Amino acid sequence: MIEQHRSEFPFLRGKIYFNYGGQGSMPQSAIAVLHEAHDRFQELGPFSSAANAWIVEEGNLTRSAIAKELGATPDTITLTEDVSVGCNIALWGMDWKDGDHILMSDCEHQGIVAAVRELQRRFDLEVSVCPLLDTLNLGDPSAIVKQYLKPNTRLFVVSHILWNTGQVLPLEEMVEICHAQSVQVLVDAAQSVGVLPLNLTALQADYYAFTGHKWWCGAAGVGGLYVRPEARESLHPTFIGWRSVITDATGNPDRFQSDGRRYEIATSAIPLYSALRSAIEFHAPFAQDRYRMICDRSAYLWERLTQLSNVKCLKQSAPEAGLVSFQLENGKHAQLVQFLEEQNIFLRVILNPNCVRACVHYFTSENEIDLLVNAIEKFNQ
Ligand SMILES: Cc1ncc(COP(=O)(O)O)c(C=O)c1O
Repeated sequence: MIEQHRSEFPFLRGKIYFNYGGQGSMPQSAIAVLHEAHDRFQELGPFSSAANAWIVEEGNLTRSAIAKELGATPDTITLTEDVSVGCNIALWGMDWKDGDHILMSDCEHQGIVAAVRELQRRFDLEVSVCPLLDTLNLGDPSAIVKQYLKPNTRLFVVSHILWNTGQVLPLEEMVEICHAQSVQVLVDAAQSVGVLPLNLTALQADYYAFTGHKWWCGAAGVGGLYVRPEARESLHPTFIGWRSVITDATGNPDRFQSDGRRYEIATSAIPLYSALRSAIEFHAPFAQDRYRMICDRSAYLWERLTQLSNVKCLKQSAPEAGLVSFQLENGKHAQLVQFLEEQNIFLRVILNPNCVRACVHYFTSENEIDLLVNAIEKFNQ
């Protein structure tokens, strides 16, 4: 069954793909739905009352499909373009005062770090970084977060799965620690959505920013942000347009939408929405087993890599998700990635810590992993 499922990815043919954490390959069905949606939009309008009704319906269906996947309700979901937009909505929407403190982990993505730095400059904030990188094999990340919180901390920015080392953080515990001190939590979920079983209602993180184009294998350009209902009360929209508001009888903006739509703005690439729903649907037969299958495959890759001389996996035990990061003794990481790409094997370099990252999905085959490991062995000779 999995072989049949895998064959539904036209662009995985002839390719050995380990970059799902960068961007997922799209299943044929999602590509077809994307084309159909473009056609439908042109047929209906593209500007007409029927097309406008279709746009509203597409948004509603997509928020609902995402909410179902994430264990949340549709009113908590805002449709965005990607992870970074979701993070920016939360970061810029809070009411910052001079001297407020933001804590973030030392493993955040450069785009999010840059946004936090600009926020710091603009509002005279204090920003500090807590060292979670070194807890990959030993230590208690929650205890470190607790230690770094201050009386003036307002927000903790952290990834659910660290994009560089693949570590899965104990987010529920971290949220509890932060909330006990009235600190909100913004989660970068780039590497967790489409991988981990999630129940955002139970998790209670305030903001959870994700995208459809990585592990969900949707089209690039549509993602989302979960905003906890309690946090929505105080999170103001920053970029505002006709989708954010409800108008009065004269067409003037009367008030913001009461749900997650208040952070949506204006014209977007709506056909992407149905492609994302189709991709989510495509994974449904494996929804129960997906995370276990990802872990089985990453454990297999990890085991095979640990048997190679001159290769060191960052993690000293089997990974807890699909990211497997490793170093070469000779440090020739960029050269390895280039060498592999010449053979249609796709991985990426990470700069901090300096390593190579391979991502395995639930439909990655053992054969692909064997071919990768053999190619690394060959490069090392
Ligand atoms: C942890 C993390 N955050 C943010 C991003 C940026 O994602 P996007 O392009 O969807 O904003 C990435 C992309 O690789 C990522 O891995």
